Amino acid sequence: MQRRKIIIDTDPGQDDAAALMLAFGSPDEIEILGLTAVAGNVPLSFTSRNLRIVCELCGHPEAKVYEGALKPLNRPQVTAEHVHGKTGLDGAELPEPTMLPQEQNAIDFIIETLRREPEGTVTLCTLGPLTNIAMALTKAPDIAPRVKELVMMGGGFSEGGNITPAAEFNIYVDPEAAKIVFGAGIPLVIMPLDVTHQLLTRKARVEKIAALGTRPAQVLVEWLAFFERFDIEKYGSDGGPLHDPTVIAYLLKPELFSGRECNVEIEVESELTVGMTVVDWWRVTDRKPNATFMRTVDADGFFELLTERVGRL
Ligand code: BDR
Ligand code: CA
Repeated sequence: MQRRKIIIDTDPGQDDAAALMLAFGSPDEIEILGLTAVAGNVPLSFTSRNLRIVCELCGHPEAKVYEGALKPLNRPQVTAEHVHGKTGLDGAELPEPTMLPQEQNAIDFIIETLRREPEGTVTLCTLGPLTNIAMALTKAPDIAPRVKELVMMGGGFSEGGNITPAAEFNIYVDPEAAKIVFGAGIPLVIMPLDVTHQLLTRKARVEKIAALGTRPAQVLVEWLAFFERFDIEKYGSDGGPLHDPTVIAYLLKPELFSGRECNVEIEVESELTVGMTVVDWWRVTDRKPNATFMRTVDADGFFELLTERVGRL
């Protein structure tokens, strides 16, 4: 099997960290060309730091980390310390990273990589707000047709939103960026809240990760314990939803997910529903499908995959 070349754009976040572990644990299938940090869950200084902490924990200090946008295209920054803690990666004691970010910025790295690699061979994986990708597409529109696929965690349909009643966090933080990305003609695969809310970090599932007994597994368990407390306290749910690893799981085992090709547009004006993903699931408009929008996942299969790959780190 040919390894899939990917760029991961991320704002770690404990669930972003789980996604990165899944990717680093899957070197037979995935070649990580670079990792780009974006402001999101916490400011960029923290997401860049956290990203490098995860690379080192996974045994990859040679990975290339690039820093991107400091804030959304034209809105004030919104962050989610209430979920992820002050640093964005609260929950485990880890040393500060020794790795430094690359000098080149994330936007230029994305452009240069897509221009250099053969057309249709690079997949973009986004785990945070879409600011970096929108900036790259605006600066270099020629890269859009060169992207093989963009797989993102973002949006919601029947599950509504998690930061406002209508909007999911990654889209809400930078809706103008999302609008640019959704209109770029790139094949999109979307992992919305509809999917991720089916992936609760239930005790029995986390115990299997803990049983691996390795340092990365132990740290992941500590991060998940911190991350899930928000949902457990607020909703009394059996664990928290593991959002971002769905993106990497899709690359490894697409058969875990099912959805439908349809049109998805982003609301950028309405005060009440800004950042909403307007999903034409029933094809009631003539708008052209621009995305594969997932709705269901084999949750046990997903956790088996995650556990097995974290065990390889
Ligand atoms: C998304 O927002 C962030 O808090 C998570 O890391 C995930 O990417 C879920 O809405
Ligand atoms: Ca994220």
